[in-house]
Amino acid sequence: MNRVIDNHGRPISYLRLAVTDRCNLRCFYCMPEEGIKYVPKPHLLTWEEMERTIRILVNMGVDKVRLTGGEPFVRRGIMDFLEELNKIEGLRQINITTNGVLTAPLIPEFQRLGIKSVNLSLDTLDRQRFFDITRRDEFQNVWQTFEALQEYNIPTKLNSVVMSGKNTEDIIPMADLTRTHNVSVRFIEEMPFNGDGAHEYQEFWNYRKILEELKKTYPGIYKLPDPPASTSYNYQIPGHKGTIGIIAAFSRTFCGTCNRLRITPQGQFKTCLYDDGVFNIKDLLRQGLDDASVTQRIFEALQHRAKDGFEAEARRTVGLVSESMSTIGG
Ligand code: GTP
Ligand code: 5AD
Ligand code: SF4
Repeated sequence: MNRVIDNHGRPISYLRLAVTDRCNLRCFYCMPEEGIKYVPKPHLLTWEEMERTIRILVNMGVDKVRLTGGEPFVRRGIMDFLEELNKIEGLRQINITTNGVLTAPLIPEFQRLGIKSVNLSLDTLDRQRFFDITRRDEFQNVWQTFEALQEYNIPTKLNSVVMSGKNTEDIIPMADLTRTHNVSVRFIEEMPFNGDGAHEYQEFWNYRKILEELKKTYPGIYKLPDPPASTSYNYQIPGHKGTIGIIAAFSRTFCGTCNRLRITPQGQFKTCLYDDGVFNIKDLLRQGLDDASVTQRIFEALQHRAKDGFEAEARRTVGLVSESMSTIGG
């Protein structure tokens, strides 16, 4: 199989596709309470345009797609889209990142649809703290999704963004879930993508601090080997079924082994989390370009990717970011 290599020798195999910027939660670290200005519907990629783009990328060597958002399941038609994706030969993995508000009743379908794993956003195990963070009283629905994922044996990672004054008391109870559940619990450093400028903290919970907190209760916690291009540093507590990950999303970079492309809901094609999009794929498709010409444009973009360290540099110079994670797709 052909695999496109970028200008720094990194094979490109993974697409993060944000299928919508809409969301039914208002997480503190992602958007302001009043929400964000959503992209008008005609400016969103259609499901057909997304499928065509994925087919083109799969022919170029992409074999893993993660659907993100916004919340993917608020967009009507996603189940039919998944059905179509499952038919694409060469697409080895279809993964989804979801907030789990609407998904519990859909989980029995996931295996048939070829969904390999689910990353479920869950910052706390406490209903009140869940409300304080997400500004919506949906904890019970998300928990039901978690239980359904367990029941149907779908590999699951829980994503918890650790924030001073919001959910640090959840670190140990969430880590303790790995005792009884085969799940990967991942603690994430907050990034400044909340649609409102960076939050100021006296105490920023970085990778080191999270690990120290875990070690206080679990001195035997030990390091696991990390899969290639993993975002998380992975650990296990002796005797526990599941694993723990820490994602140093802010204090470290993933540039060296970055195998990812991103497409935003309005079709911006990003070769780095921190670029604004190098072209708009929707515009190319709507101009009537054939697959070969689109392939060529993508290939050219991949020969101008930022090199190792760009992410850190961009972060220093970007300053206050007013973009929401919901419009980037994480
Ligand atoms: P898998 O490796 O496929 O499990 O996915 P993931 O961990 O990259 O995806 P997920 O959507 O669960 O995101 C987890 C966290 O990692 C989120 O906070 C993302 O914003 C963050 N993240 C994902 N990719 C990058 C990246 O390239 N750079 C940085 N700094 N953070 C990232
Ligand atoms: N910092 C770190 N992680 C974030 N996410 C959303 N916004 C942020 C942020 N500002 C996480 C969510 C979701 C994943 C795609 O990104 O928890 O699980
Ligand atoms: Fe919605 Fe995810 Fe943003 Fe929360 S982090 S508001 S669930 S898109």
